[in-house]
Amino acid sequence: MKWPVAKPKRTSVIVSGALGLLFILSQPGLAQTGQTVQIGQAELIGDVLAGQRKAVLCTLCHGPAGVSANPSMPSLAGQQAQYLANQIKAFKTGLRAEVTMYPYVQGLSDQDIADLAVYYAALPPRWVR
Ligand code: HEC
Repeated sequence: MKWPVAKPKRTSVIVSGALGLLFILSQPGLAQTGQTVQIGQAELIGDVLAGQRKAVLCTLCHGPAGVSANPSMPSLAGQQAQYLANQIKAFKTGLRAEVTMYPYVQGLSDQDIADLAVYYAALPPRWVR
């Protein structure tokens, strides 16, 4: 006798896939790409999902969704993308000298910076207290 194992499995894959997609789409702005930021002379199109992937280390200090629990670390969620890009670039070049941030941004390309900037800009900000 055959047990009907294949069908429920396939269904659960479809369900979890759909739930995953729903989660991404339910994040305000997270499914959007294509916001531009100016970095130097170049106008770059940031990719929100690529930014999310590149933000793994940033979450150590800036919180899992850009909202920081540590009073000495700034929250980034919902900040203007252009401002974020300017600051990351400034940390990288040393214009804004910061020993804590420098190691994490020194290796970023302009495209990485654009992706990270539009990702954090797309996250919901924390309530102002
Ligand atoms: C080890 C902790 C740490 C990590 C990891 C880290 N940051 Fe920061 N970040 C800081 C601190 C501290 C500041 C505040 C700097 C200051 O006081 O000038 C900051 C500031 C910033 C700012 C400026 C915010 C503002 O309001 O001006 C941006 C943007 C930023 N970080 C982005 C990132 C990104 C993107 C990453 C990952 C590539 C990252 N940070 C990783 C600690 C960290």
